Formats: sequence, structure tokens, C-alpha cells
Amino acid sequence: MSEMDKEYKILEENFDKECQVVFSSRQLEDLRVKYLGRKSALAQLFSKIPELTLQEKGVWGRQLNILKQKITTVLEEKSRAVKDEEETMDLTFPSYGKEMGSTHVLSAVSESICSILQRLGFVVVEGGEIEDEWHNFAALNIPLEHPSRDVFDTFYLNVKEKNRGKYLLRSHTSPSQIRVMRESKPPMAVISPGRVYRPDEVDATHSFMFHQIEGFAIDKDINFSHLKGVLLHLVQEFFSSDVKLRLRPHFFPFTEPSAEVDISCIICQTPNSELRTKNSGSKCSVCKDKGWLEILGCGMIHPNVLEACEIDSKQYKGFAFGMGVERIAMLKYGINDIRLFYENDVRFLDQFT
Ligand code: DAH
Repeated sequence: MSEMDKEYKILEENFDKECQVVFSSRQLEDLRVKYLGRKSALAQLFSKIPELTLQEKGVWGRQLNILKQKITTVLEEKSRAVKDEEETMDLTFPSYGKEMGSTHVLSAVSESICSILQRLGFVVVEGGEIEDEWHNFAALNIPLEHPSRDVFDTFYLNVKEKNRGKYLLRSHTSPSQIRVMRESKPPMAVISPGRVYRPDEVDATHSFMFHQIEGFAIDKDINFSHLKGVLLHLVQEFFSSDVKLRLRPHFFPFTEPSAEVDISCIICQTPNSELRTKNSGSKCSVCKDKGWLEILGCGMIHPNVLEACEIDSKQYKGFAFGMGVERIAMLKYGINDIRLFYENDVRFLDQFT
């Protein structure tokens, strides 16, 4: 290949490449000068024509003119495109701004409850979502055949742990109690938030996955009044200082005695509730005029549970409680469908940021 051929090829390739990165009329003008100007590589090639043989003169003359025409056409097309772009671009137009992510309402509620309890001295310990039957049931005093196991029954994995039964997706956060109690020595005050699973049909108040917060404290002189004190402080701090607490006797296998806890309705019974004005109808939409809302289960840790964790139940006592985060968030914000939490509709989620 002759010197002339080489230079021609390089020139053509460079022009094609440089054309791709031209976005303004200024860049375009620079490119025009570089490729069509008096000192351009093309002009230099033209200036070599007089040195060629007669036959070569004809060939190169035609070839260089074709290239010149091509460069001119491409630059003209580019120029039209760049002008269009520049004319439609309004630099004074306000920018779109950045969409910022934010904490999900369930995380916010969970964090807020945990932080109230942390200020009382509770320590956060997260358990695992995969448990075995022993931790989820047996150690919590729920024997294999016990009817209350049906309520907690869950999704099983096809894997077994030696002496601990089948693996499963935990149906409550209570197994965290067992994990912590077996790994550390009392005194202890722990909260454990996280996801739990139950094969429930999804509807406005049920989901196969939801969130709970477990809490428990163990020491030599822990009694029921400590439990009541902690819960009263929690609900008054979280909902409103006017909220009243009511404990109803109940049964849980892992606590004895056990209770379900209600708060006075934050809509119709709480004078300072932020939600109060929303409830203009005659019947309270949240408590259905009962005046009370169930929020959690609790009790004194059953001696069998302490013993399963090798804690001497004669020396130590403990209280425990467990609550559903979705339920608490629904009560606090007057949300009537649990599915809203999981649909990722920003119009819903935005209200809580
Ligand atoms: N684990 C129970 C449930 O999922 C909630 C619960 C009730 C936890 C009483 C407790 C408790 O620690 O003492 O329904």
C-alpha cells in the first residue's frame, strides 16, 4: 500500500470516529476546520497530486473529491442535528431532582419500638428466620401434639437437624428467647425484632409473612409488675401519654401466668390522638366501639422454658412479651389493609416519610 493510500485510510477512519463525539456547534466547527480547512490532512493529500503520474492524478483526484464530498455531507447532517438539539434544550428549565429512598413504615415502627425499649436497657439481638422444631416449639413448651402448635404451624424445609427436628421458617420470634438464654447467663433484658411466617390465607388482616418484636427480661427478682411497668411505658411513649393498659388472662404455652394486652382505643378513647379527627362517624372504625385494642401477648416465662435453656427456675424468673409490628402500625396510623405494606406503592409509603 502506498504512503498516499495509508494516509487516506487513516484520515477516513479518524473522521468517522471523531464524528461520533460531536454534540455542539462549537465542536462541529472545530471538526470542519480540522478536516476541510486549508491545513487539513485532506488539503495536504490534494497538494500531493501534482507530484503523481498522469494516470494516478486522475484516480486520486476523483477519490479525494469523493472523500471531500462525503465529509461535507456528514458535517452538514451533523450540523442540522446539533442545531435541533440546541434549540429544544432549555437550560433555565428546573432539574427533575433525585428520588430519595426512605425508611419503610414497618421498619420505622419497629425501630421506634426498639429504641424506646433500648432506652430502658433492653439489648437488641436478631434471631434467624430459619429455625428447627425444637427451638420453635419444644423448647418453648409447645409439645409435638399440643393443639396450640396448629396456630403457629408454618412452612417446613425438607431438612432435619439431629435431635432438633425439621427445619422450618419460624412462626414467631419467641425462639430468639431460647437462642439468647442458652448462649448467655442472666440477668438479661433483650428485644428481638424480625420476620415470621405462617401459612395464612392473605387478606386485609393476614399475611403469610409478617414482623414481630419479642421482648424478655430475666433476673432473680423479676415479677409481673415489672412487665406491666415496661409495657405501660412502651405504649404511652409510642402511642400517647393518655393511653391506658388492660391485661386479660390468656393462655400461652411458654408463659405462666399469661395475658393478652389491650390499650384504650387511640381513636375514640384518647383525647389527644392525632387520628381522632378522622373518625367522624358514630361507630369507632378502629375499635368498633369496644374502647380497647389488642396489641400483644405476654406473661411470666414458664419454668419449663427456663429449664430447657439450663436456667435454674427456682432462682430466676423472667417476663416475656411478643407483638406484631404490622398490627401496631395499622393501629397507630389507621391503616385498614395489611397488604398495603407489601405492595411497594410509593403513594402509600410516601405518607410516612
Ligand atoms: N409468640 C406469640 C405469637 O406469636 C406471641 C407472644 C405471646 C410472645 C406471649 C411472648 C409472650 O413472648 O409471652 O403469637
